[in-house]
Amino acid sequence: MILAGRMGYFALNNLRIDATDVESTGQFAQMIEAGLYRNDELSRLPESILEKYFEPNDKPGHFRVIDSIRRRVAYQRHDLLCFREIGRGYSLVLCKNVLLHFQPQERIEVLRMFHRALASGGLFASELTQEMPPELAPLFQRAIPDGQVFRKVEGAGCGS
Ligand SMILES: C[S@@+](CC[C@H](N)C(=O)[O-])C[C@H]1O[C@@H](n2cnc3c(N)ncnc32)[C@H](O)[C@@H]1O
Repeated sequence: MILAGRMGYFALNNLRIDATDVESTGQFAQMIEAGLYRNDELSRLPESILEKYFEPNDKPGHFRVIDSIRRRVAYQRHDLLCFREIGRGYSLVLCKNVLLHFQPQERIEVLRMFHRALASGGLFASELTQEMPPELAPLFQRAIPDGQVFRKVEGAGCGS
């Protein structure tokens, strides 16, 4: 939705978001696949976002993400701890509130995997409290001064 608000119609239609989680079933996966959210889950959203990107649904008490956004998102199960990327050539890898659950060495291997998955010059972003381990300094260059956004450094790391 943030991207939709900032990209033109043509660019948005060329966008593909691969959303992943270790969960294959359950409410989380279903919400993403169906784009269906309970009203109370959306209560903290600004009214402008709700009006623009959600529509009432036949299911009582639920709103659904509008088609033009939902079509851009594909969900698949992926265990980050298998350390195998789901694809390559990504412009952006966004991983929020997940790495904090892992051991330091696991975190490093997951970040190496993200590095392999990124296209040349691609960006990795995480939550503010997530620091880049110093061991990975050769792989990622800080892209903004006041946030955890890093640009892939080309030619560093194996298989990149
Ligand atoms: C605190 S939630 C964060 C969800 C979302 N990224 C956000 O910021 O709102 C942590 C998520 O990490 C997922 N997770 C835990 N271990 C994982 C793993 N090994 N691989 C992929 N996802 C995992 C959980 O299923 C859960 O959905």
